[in-house]
Amino acid sequence: MDWKPDSWRSKPARHIPEDYPDPAALAAAEDELSGYPPLVFAGEVRTLRASLAQVARGEAFLLQGGDCAESFKEFHPDNIRDTFRVLLQMAVALTFGAAMPVVKVGRIAGQFAKPRSAPTETNDNQTLPSYRGDNINGMEFSADARMPDPQRLLKAYGQAAATLNLIRAFATGGYADLRNVHNWNLEFVSGSRQEDRYSALADKISEAIAFMEACGVDGSEVRAIREVDFYTSHEALLLGFETAMTRIDSTTGRWYDTSAHLIWIGDRTRQPDGAHVEFCRGVENPIGLKCGPTLAPDELIALLDALNPKNDPGRIVLITRFGAEKAEEGLPPLIRRVRAEGRNVVWSCDPMHGNTIKAAGGFKTRRFDAILAEVRAFTDTCRAEGAFPGGVHFEMTGQNVTECLGGSQEISEADLSSRYHTHCDPRLNANQALELAFILADRFKDYRKTSI
Ligand code: PEP
Ligand code: CO
Repeated sequence: MDWKPDSWRSKPARHIPEDYPDPAALAAAEDELSGYPPLVFAGEVRTLRASLAQVARGEAFLLQGGDCAESFKEFHPDNIRDTFRVLLQMAVALTFGAAMPVVKVGRIAGQFAKPRSAPTETNDNQTLPSYRGDNINGMEFSADARMPDPQRLLKAYGQAAATLNLIRAFATGGYADLRNVHNWNLEFVSGSRQEDRYSALADKISEAIAFMEACGVDGSEVRAIREVDFYTSHEALLLGFETAMTRIDSTTGRWYDTSAHLIWIGDRTRQPDGAHVEFCRGVENPIGLKCGPTLAPDELIALLDALNPKNDPGRIVLITRFGAEKAEEGLPPLIRRVRAEGRNVVWSCDPMHGNTIKAAGGFKTRRFDAILAEVRAFTDTCRAEGAFPGGVHFEMTGQNVTECLGGSQEISEADLSSRYHTHCDPRLNANQALELAFILADRFKDYRKTSI
């Protein structure tokens, strides 16, 4: 294959900043990064691919979620723990409802760089480059902050490494032990409908484990009870960074992007002859591909040809993001074509990016009801078309933020300003995220009764 980690440099590249004031300093930072330890290991990536192959076959479910954009400012162990534990809570709800393994993937430990709809932003007659993510420039509206700074790449690497270190400790060091299922409850969920449902579920799980232990199974000896597999992911947007993290695996002699287990290509950078597709086709990681309303079936097939010529299940996750109103019409042509061609893919639903609206006060927000409507349209359409609705992709946080409207807390437009902390798109708070997981779990329970 005529591919190198930087062969993308000769292709048209969208959304990669070209205004670094000192290109030599950028090259030096990338060079330094290329000598840093990998963040993830090839063996872990292969395990994730095997799990995603299970999802592609309809035997497991994918839960992917986390920040729209991680930030240096929100970097705190409590934030990492809270996002991790709400993902664990959602995963147990889904495991129970779907009676299937749930593959857990965070948008975390490297989700910094953002494609922006406009390259510049104007405020009080001043026009500056847009904010592009903390690994590129700063959010503050000043010429200084908005200047891309290569040192930010090294800082982002450090934050990703520390985040992953804590996640690994949580995943395998006792925190995620299923026997702790009661302790994962978040304080602010107290008194809510979600808390009641979660407590009832945790009781059932604890009872089942106590029963197994009474039968002589020692929970501490069973890895599936004691630990979880948790994977990281981000959009592979800033290809200089991804290239610096791309290494040959000594066991297989193949290239892996060691910046995350799964990387995805955004809706704005998925041109079949573009730089992002060129980079992703050469690494062995599972590749997510955002599929929005402008993606034609022919183009999707061209992308699958480029990214997965061997039609390997577990390599491709198609992350659909049509918006609640367009999903029912937009999905069938893609699903039909993929099925007609016998392509092995995971179908996952991102109900966030097609449902962004502007509220009074200028806040970017999303309605819980629209998010739910898109998830419903996705699962119904997949089933009607004979595809397995294999996963969901949420922008969410473990914090009690007020960024999305509605949900059982009934967050209103007037509430948005009280705890609106996101650096980019509005996220579901822990309560809203758990509510969605329960609704999905119920859907899967119903589906099991009326199997496809
Ligand atoms: C995102 O996932 O944050 C994003 C920018 O999504 P999309 O490429 O689907 O717009
Ligand atoms: Co986003």
